[in-house]
Amino acid sequence: MKERLTIAKNYIESKTDFRPEVVIVLGSGLGDYGNTVEEVEAEFLYAEIPGFPVSTAPGHAGKLTFGCKAGKKIALLSGRFHCYEGYQAAETVVPLRTLLMLGARYVVLTNAAGGINTDFTAGDLMLITDHINFSANNALTGPNIDELGPRFPDMSFAYSKRLNKMIDEIAEQEGIALQHGVYGYMVGPSYETPAEIRALRVLGADAVGMSTVHEAVAASHAGAETVAISCISNLAAGVAKHALTMEEVLEAGKMVASRMCALVDGFLKKL
Ligand code: 6GU
Repeated sequence: MKERLTIAKNYIESKTDFRPEVVIVLGSGLGDYGNTVEEVEAEFLYAEIPGFPVSTAPGHAGKLTFGCKAGKKIALLSGRFHCYEGYQAAETVVPLRTLLMLGARYVVLTNAAGGINTDFTAGDLMLITDHINFSANNALTGPNIDELGPRFPDMSFAYSKRLNKMIDEIAEQEGIALQHGVYGYMVGPSYETPAEIRALRVLGADAVGMSTVHEAVAASHAGAETVAISCISNLAAGVAKHALTMEEVLEAGKMVASRMCALVDGFLKKL
């Protein structure tokens, strides 16, 4: 894995001198944020970067953009890799870890998630305060990459309290309603059964999705400060009165995109 990351890093270094400080990972339906970068410094298709996996999920562009926004040097990962595509957790975090090896210190993760908390409605934004990985897979399996971090990293501060406070302040200033909660990770690709959703609620999850936790673990391992925001695209099985569809998830992503963009823009300004 270290060789793979090094190959990807070397390729990027051979193409540009730009070194991003903030990585933003764009989830389902939020890919349009990539078109709002002011000064694009470099752009890569995942497919061209040696070492990167190849994206298969709909609504995911598979593109890495370097540029500046609000005076910050950012890297946008438009599209991500998921275990439900058949990748190991460790493979799904190759793009993020490559950028961490390049020196990025801050990570913003976005996703679409199903609402479990009965106070939530579709279209809500939820700031992730913590997560539960309901799977046997971990992003750091395999030999430890000592340059990035320790073998057994603490996860008490995987989601930065300092940065979350900043996001809360921006939401308040911008008049954007923001829920808080625990993100439960399920591998998918099937959505959960109503019984699974009841179980996840009892166990402390407020929302459920198929991404983000591996990136949060990889970022925390490398000592990067992380914030993660879920777009509650739909209510989960048994909470919703109807069957769940992919279209609903992508549609809700479009509805909340402007609020998500405002939050991320405000965050970059404040950082
Ligand atoms: Cl209901 N479940 C999972 N696992 N992922 C989702 C979702 C539900 N809604 C959006 N993404």
